[in-house]
Amino acid sequence: MKFHVNLVKTVDDSYDIEIGSNLLNNLKEYLTESLQQQKRNIAIITDSNVHTIYGKNFEKIVKEAAIQAAAGENAVKVNTVVFPAGEKSKTRKIKEYIEDKLIEWGYRRDTLIIAHGGGVVTDMAGFVAGTFARGVPFINYATTLLAAADASVGGKTAVDTEAATNLIGLIYQPKKVFIDTATWKTLEQRDVSGGLAETIKHACMADKEFFGYLEENIEKVFDMDSQVCKHIAEKNCEIKYNVVMIDEKEQGLREILNLGHTVGRAIETVSDYTLYHGEAVSIGIMAQIKLGRKFGYCTQDDVNRVESLLEKAKLPVKIPQEIDKEALVKKLYTDKKVRGGKLRFVFQKGIGQMVQFAPGTNAANAVYSNFVSEDTARSIISEL
Ligand SMILES: NC(=O)c1ccc[n+]([C@@H]2O[C@H](COP(=O)([O-])OP(=O)(O)OC[C@H]3O[C@@H](n4cnc5c(N)ncnc54)[C@H](O)[C@@H]3O)[C@@H](O)[C@H]2O)c1
Ligand SMILES: [Zn+2]
Repeated sequence: MKFHVNLVKTVDDSYDIEIGSNLLNNLKEYLTESLQQQKRNIAIITDSNVHTIYGKNFEKIVKEAAIQAAAGENAVKVNTVVFPAGEKSKTRKIKEYIEDKLIEWGYRRDTLIIAHGGGVVTDMAGFVAGTFARGVPFINYATTLLAAADASVGGKTAVDTEAATNLIGLIYQPKKVFIDTATWKTLEQRDVSGGLAETIKHACMADKEFFGYLEENIEKVFDMDSQVCKHIAEKNCEIKYNVVMIDEKEQGLREILNLGHTVGRAIETVSDYTLYHGEAVSIGIMAQIKLGRKFGYCTQDDVNRVESLLEKAKLPVKIPQEIDKEALVKKLYTDKKVRGGKLRFVFQKGIGQMVQFAPGTNAANAVYSNFVSEDTARSIISEL
């Protein structure tokens, strides 16, 4: 006998992203309302740095929402789990540690997770939420420019392993995202620059006008000009959203988000993570635009504009001397775009567009990456 399990699903994974400066009151309002609709014990997941600076006040706000929502009855539980800051914590071990804490506190299906921090925290907390009790809702309260620029849109959650970063994870969408640009004030300059690398990538890829805006205003980000920070957060979300929504399942278009990441990711690994992701991507952006110049996809003026914008963002544009360039060439083969043992790159076309190599049958599955020989890749790397 055979059963056919009919499971055609229509899923509504829509959510809102709220962007602004000082959003704790908005979070409180949102939580109060959602707890009134459905009681859930709350687990705040954060890292040691964010916890030291903001943790106490954040938990206080969440507790106030829990009390307000309870209206005299028993308020739901609110607990915070803190793990050591940094990419090195994005592991299965730390995930297990967090899960054990939740279990110890008696949390079950009726849990709401709040990620409070940068991309490491949102990736980790999203993954915990996606698997805890087979999936509980989660909210992101993002505190880095990189989380705003990249990690908060798209629903990718994961942890790293020795073999590769982000290898174990799932696509799991948050219920709500808050991007609080006021928290960027306490970021280290290297983290601000790292977020700007992804921002410049977005502009190179999709928005010439935004590129011009960055040329005019990027320095104001370091002064934490709230209008500029807000505009940058909004533009990043809009550009990434427009790609991810068309190609949620990574059929083709989504590959354009990989701009600068072919060489970038390889440098990040070969440097043994002494270069931050965004710093490595900055050099990777230079690699693809210089290659693109060779192939005739852009002009020398485009190359110069991109280089000077990256420099304004206090990002490196050359490969640090201590990096073994031959090791870097070898590392390129671990890139996820490699097919049949051949390297592939995506390229910007001038500024604000991408080179399309073959049209698709729909907007999602056109081809944006093309083969590049090892020798050509090596020659660009030797120039950088
Ligand atoms: N899911 C996605 O689509 C996606 C996209 C891009 C990146 N990521 C992931 O995001 C991670 C990188 O993100 P990140 O740069 O935000 O890393 P992060 O979370 O490690 O934050 C960087 C540093 O800043 C500290 N920090 C965070 N907020 C702060 C604040 N407001 N003030 C002071 N210090 C603060 C953190 O403790 C950490 O030391 C990587 O793990 C990457 O894989 C995910
Ligand atoms: Zn990136």
